[in-house]
Amino acid sequence: MAIRLDRLLSERGIASRSELRQIIRGGRVRVNGQIVTAPERHVDPEADEITLDGVPVLRERLRYFMMDKPEGVLSVTEDRRQQTVLDLLPPELRRLRLFPVGRLDRDTSGLLLLTNDGDFAHRVISPRSGVEKRYRAEVDGVPDETDVRAFAAGIVLADGTRCLPARLELGGGSVCFVTVMEGKYHQVKRMLASRGKPVLKLRRLSVGALELGEAPAPGRIRELDAEDLCKVLKGWSTVK
Ligand code: URA
Repeated sequence: MAIRLDRLLSERGIASRSELRQIIRGGRVRVNGQIVTAPERHVDPEADEITLDGVPVLRERLRYFMMDKPEGVLSVTEDRRQQTVLDLLPPELRRLRLFPVGRLDRDTSGLLLLTNDGDFAHRVISPRSGVEKRYRAEVDGVPDETDVRAFAAGIVLADGTRCLPARLELGGGSVCFVTVMEGKYHQVKRMLASRGKPVLKLRRLSVGALELGEAPAPGRIRELDAEDLCKVLKGWSTVK
């Protein structure tokens, strides 16, 4: 997420905004090796190498959390009218510039990861990483073996979009479990709708091998440790 250079340096406690403007205009700051004299220049604290007088300005510490997202809350970083998952965080955590890893719909509950590590988020979301997301769905109708086979073959959505093969497990009656490796817009709802089984209730149970059962009470967050992160992305290390 890009941020003004003078703001970033003041948040790192290097000097006040006004002092920093002078420092930057004086040519003492480099971004990726190039002198930058515009305090308003936007930089990416995760990706850009920033130095002051040749000394690297420390990057933000990378943090990772899990939440059981309640229904009725948006999984975005800000919204002028509706409550977001970040509004649920205590003030000291709101300063970390966390963002949700992928999205759950407003009426979907369950496991949501939050981080300030864009690389991690990208990998969890990307179908190439093969991270499975498992959902429990209650639908209008009774899914059956023909639906299971259609999911395994790759569902074609109403607009012609072809989904990767996915797993559908029958849970008895109108309950089923869907496992996908991609995160298209409203994907699970659209997959089940394409089989004539519209979703009434959706809850995410796991991301990779990290289970919702390991999350605290709905709306509260818990910081993930190295072991948790390896459950999400095998072999992931925060040491970069
Ligand atoms: N698929 C959906 O349709 N909705 C979600 O919130 C997540 C996956």
